[in-house]
Amino acid sequence: AAVGKGNYRHFMEKELHEHPAVLGDTLRQYLDPKTLEVRLPRLPFDPARIPRLTISACGSAFLAGAVGRYWIEQLARLPVDADVASELRYRNPPLVEGGAAILISQSGETADNMAALKLLRQGGQKVLSVVNVPESSMARESDGAVLTVAGPEIGVASTKAFTAQLAVMACLAIGFGRSRRELSTIDEGRLTQALLEVPGNAALVLEKDAQIRELAAEVAKARDVLFLGRGSLYPIALEGALKLKEISYIHAEGYAAGEMKHGPIALIDNLVPVIALCPTGPLFEKTASNLQEAAARGGRIMAFTDADGVGPLSRFAERVIELPKVGDLSAPILHAIAVQLLAYHVAVLKGTDVDQPRNLAKSVTVE
Ligand code: G6P
Repeated sequence: AAVGKGNYRHFMEKELHEHPAVLGDTLRQYLDPKTLEVRLPRLPFDPARIPRLTISACGSAFLAGAVGRYWIEQLARLPVDADVASELRYRNPPLVEGGAAILISQSGETADNMAALKLLRQGGQKVLSVVNVPESSMARESDGAVLTVAGPEIGVASTKAFTAQLAVMACLAIGFGRSRRELSTIDEGRLTQALLEVPGNAALVLEKDAQIRELAAEVAKARDVLFLGRGSLYPIALEGALKLKEISYIHAEGYAAGEMKHGPIALIDNLVPVIALCPTGPLFEKTASNLQEAAARGGRIMAFTDADGVGPLSRFAERVIELPKVGDLSAPILHAIAVQLLAYHVAVLKGTDVDQPRNLAKSVTVE
């Protein structure tokens, strides 16, 4: 059946508002709310036995993989290599015996990732795909598939499919951590419980719409925008910049907050908004001090944080938007929704074709 826009102006807006439902559907597929255990489908490899994992994807899906890398390394102590498929396929990477790979794709048809799939399988890797379309080529040709339950995504720039990919990667990271005996039953229960709160928290992020729209009015005036984040928020900074470029045509860069002093700080002046993704946690002080350096050079800091971060950041930031206070598996998902909303509102203010940005395709089936 054809999918309609309902009462929304754009498919992207409609899909943004589907986040709580989609995240709930996806998480309920792999988490048991009664036992607080992860229930993964049969995997084509044993996470306890693989020496190394390769993640391959394109576009936003790659950035979901980049977040997954942080999580899997952290929770399962498994070495992970993550690369864009167009590089991986020609890099001739040394693949370890008994290794495995995860391919991430909304469509399951992206040409470069299909080529990476062949290379990885020829190199003896067991391939698991994380896809949104069960009958896609990637799902069929992989050794196993885990589905994101995002439903059809019409807007060219990914929204709900991206956060569903993050949700699946979080479940895999916990599951791998259990298999590799890096996580206790208690850890698993605590992490699972936190993930089950993501759909409700996603709804709270959507309630920040008016504040994010005000921020968008500032961002829409800029020619260049810098997104900063650390750890699992670094790929979300890249995603924020990607999304803004894709649909508003404003030049944006995402950077690891600690790398700012090695280059982008030269760009800082009062015309370049710095969007900081800065939840509290072990890396908060580090990121905050990077932001303070930018503020001292006239940079206009616009920060997303949680209740505990509002006070410290308000001392030097022009705007601070409070998101729910959550742990490391949830913060990237909530911040992703916030930067998607921001890009959406900027694009609307700019009057671009939000759902069909120029030169872009939903699914890139040619190299
Ligand atoms: C295109 C889309 C992006 C998407 C990428 C990968 O560039 O515009 O939103 O992230 O392809 O697509 P896939 O279907 O493999 O996730």
